Amino acid sequence: MKIQQRKITVVGAGFVGMTTAAKCAERNLAAEVVLTDIVEGRPQGIALDLNQSAAVEGWTTHVTGTNDPADTRDSDLFIVTAGKPRKPGMSRSDLLEVNGKVIASVAETIRDGSPEAIVIVVTNPLDTMVHLMRAKLGFPGRRVVGMAGVLDSARFSLFLAEATGTSVKDVDAMVLGAHGDSMVPMPRACTVNGVAALDLIDGATMDALADRTRHGGAEIVKLLKTGSAYYAPAAGSVAMAASILNDERRVLPCACFLNGQYGFEGIYMGVPAVLGAGGVEDIVELSLDTEARIQMQKTAGAVQGDLESLRDLGLL
Ligand code: LAC
Repeated sequence: MKIQQRKITVVGAGFVGMTTAAKCAERNLAAEVVLTDIVEGRPQGIALDLNQSAAVEGWTTHVTGTNDPADTRDSDLFIVTAGKPRKPGMSRSDLLEVNGKVIASVAETIRDGSPEAIVIVVTNPLDTMVHLMRAKLGFPGRRVVGMAGVLDSARFSLFLAEATGTSVKDVDAMVLGAHGDSMVPMPRACTVNGVAALDLIDGATMDALADRTRHGGAEIVKLLKTGSAYYAPAAGSVAMAASILNDERRVLPCACFLNGQYGFEGIYMGVPAVLGAGGVEDIVELSLDTEARIQMQKTAGAVQGDLESLRDLGLL
């Protein structure tokens, strides 16, 4: 599909949504980026501001700010950021009910107006919200994917770069599993330009960095006091969007609907995936050691627990 014809809708004009819309526009990923929110004036104001910044920077995407779901019609890609962020001390699961309702209503808009779209979900608790989105949409799993692994891996990469004194450009890190305290950082899969990171730092240092990664979101929530991270979540979402829209087939860790891969069936889980024009084109299966296998079981259990709560609330 030509860039001149592409339409991306970003749902939710909070910090993650507005930053995502800005990055999509600045990268000329689409002819039109629609930013939508229920708060009157906010998406319109952000869109106007962004379009004015285009006059300085020279990008050509048109940003539309709107409260009307009809303006999202015929979007090729949705990036769903709508919902409440965590407050200090809250876990992502505390957001199940309030954000579950938001996802259900956004799913209606997508299904009615853009039945062929690919959907990237960013709203927390991520693995449960992406599961709910797919269930409500009835889309094939390949067209509904969650953004978390790119963010968690980016955090791990930064910490590894700092600890090894190397450029973050050269660090590749991998985090699997749910986007929560049970996530599964993969020390053995971390490299610095092809050199195993474990050859550069000792196991105890690696464990500390993995642990900091697990709590990387909460670290920022605590510092900000109101709201949570948005630059890196937006960067992660836009990397996935670019890989899909430009058919780049990048291998990015993201929450994918599993059909037997890694031994799981019918559940969303963070795994490395090939993202291309059809959405999730393929899932890459890493060989896991016993420790990682145990952790994957645990993380799946955490997601199942949240799905149960969602069922108890009558939302799934
Ligand atoms: C984080 C939130 C957005 O990890 O889940 O920063």
